[in-house]
Amino acid sequence: MKKLGLLYEGKGKRLYKCEDDDLLVSEFKDDLTAFNAQKKGNENGKGALNCQISTELFRLLEKNGIKTHLVETLSDNEQLVKKVEIIPIEVVVRNIATGSLTKRLGIKDGMILPFTLVEFYYKDDDLGDPILNDEHCLLLDLASESELEELKRLGREINSILKGFFLKRGLNLVDFKVEFGKDKDGNILLSDEISPDSCRFWDIETNEKLDKDRFRQGLGNVKVAYEEVLKRILEGNDQ
Ligand code: TMP
Repeated sequence: MKKLGLLYEGKGKRLYKCEDDDLLVSEFKDDLTAFNAQKKGNENGKGALNCQISTELFRLLEKNGIKTHLVETLSDNEQLVKKVEIIPIEVVVRNIATGSLTKRLGIKDGMILPFTLVEFYYKDDDLGDPILNDEHCLLLDLASESELEELKRLGREINSILKGFFLKRGLNLVDFKVEFGKDKDGNILLSDEISPDSCRFWDIETNEKLDKDRFRQGLGNVKVAYEEVLKRILEGNDQ
């Protein structure tokens, strides 16, 4: 599939048009950003790692009944995806308290949550991606009431599939962010990516962080951590 003009450039990916109007090419970048791009970096090969990790996880989710935008991989760092209109709500799912949850509510870092917590954030960099409740979503006309319920259901379902998958590979899925889009027929598809840029993984034995917190917190060995996540995904391949 031939890549045509650049349609959109985000912090982690570029989206290109292609010969088929219903499809796009998603190119994973080596750039790393944190704190709404106030901190910037670059890791050679990070885009390819995220592309591979995300492809494996989207395929796993597809096998378990979650509809995604993924069509196929085109190269190390490119996917062919269905064109969707992104719902501007970041769906964050949490199993263990850390990050902004502990800062906002004073919950102890590392506390295992008594239930899976699903949160919505407004995908708007100018506003700094503020947290939203359901009524804020309705007020801003971001989604309907039934779509919000569907996003929560999908977030929980994705969590239960991925949490078990990573547990078998010695990783705690602490939390993650997913985005959804609507295709031309109005179907809600899992879009964007699922990678160490958008998830937190802690080693079950050592609690070592194997995700973008290594960059956010200046812990070093970012690429080594992403390679380790990919290795564990591929090693324990029981899909
Ligand atoms: P948080 O604790 O900073 O709110 O992050 C929750 C999860 O969402 C964590 O796995 C990282 C991910 N995330 C993103 O993918 N993009 C973002 O812009 C932010 C703030 C978090």
